[in-house]
Amino acid sequence: MHNEAASSLEVIRQADPGRPFVVAQLGQSLDGRIATPTGESRWINRDCALDHLHRLRAEVDAVVVGIGTVIADDPLLNVRRIPLTQKRTQPARVVIDPSGRLPATAKILNFDGADVLAINAHDCTNPSPCNTLTIERGSDGLCPKAILEALFARGFNKLLIEGGAHTVSRFIDAGVIDRLHILFAPLIIGSGQTGINLLPVGELSRALRPPTKVCVLDDGDVLFDCDLSGARANLATK
Ligand SMILES: NC(=O)c1ccc[n+]([C@@H]2O[C@H](COP(=O)([O-])OP(=O)(O)OC[C@H]3O[C@@H](n4cnc5c(N)ncnc54)[C@H](OP(=O)(O)O)[C@@H]3O)[C@@H](O)[C@H]2O)c1
Repeated sequence: MHNEAASSLEVIRQADPGRPFVVAQLGQSLDGRIATPTGESRWINRDCALDHLHRLRAEVDAVVVGIGTVIADDPLLNVRRIPLTQKRTQPARVVIDPSGRLPATAKILNFDGADVLAINAHDCTNPSPCNTLTIERGSDGLCPKAILEALFARGFNKLLIEGGAHTVSRFIDAGVIDRLHILFAPLIIGSGQTGINLLPVGELSRALRPPTKVCVLDDGDVLFDCDLSGARANLATK
């Protein structure tokens, strides 16, 4: 593994255990797409980036996705491309599922015994078919900070927000992501879903300009490890 990629993981290992530490990831094409217009996203990235994703999963207590990703991809969200060290167990899987759309047949429910938790809105009349946490639904959906606090109260300190676009973007807009790992593949899709769609900034000087480490992986995909907490701190001093 490259030094830069290894040091990105070390940041997670050394995270403050006294608060939620949040890393988000997106695998995208050169033109910023995370899926084709029909929702196909397997596989934009190549082996080294997928290995990196599994290393990220291995570092966290829980992997979090939006219900759109479960419905589109039916993912397992476990660690399987790399060996888990003896002291690690499979991360829990968390699905943000405000209205209880999670199918009972979803693979995450029927897989390896790791904890599965769904986040439902308080007014959900059709709870997800697994353990659930309930969060107040505001005019703008579920507050990402409230989701993190509820997960932290359940013992989840390190969290990986793995997708999709809506979920990662909501968490970035809420200012609660510590690190964003974007894995660029040298691929031009040309249409389809873009990864990050944020609230508009009034002027370019208000855009996030994160301190970033860049690592070219062995098969040519490129990891951008963006320090979003550093970017927010820089903006605050402007
Ligand atoms: N390339 C990659 O790295 C990558 C990774 C993951 C997924 N993907 C792709 O991304 C696509 C799915 O992305 P997506 O943006 O459509 O869906 P998504 O982000 O997975 O899920 C969005 C849904 O999750 C719920 N949700 C998430 N955060 C919420 C919040 N704060 N408040 C309220 N509801 C919230 C909402 O469900 P309700 O609509 O039920 O309210 C929302 O519509 C798929 O094509 C998948 O293949 C790509």
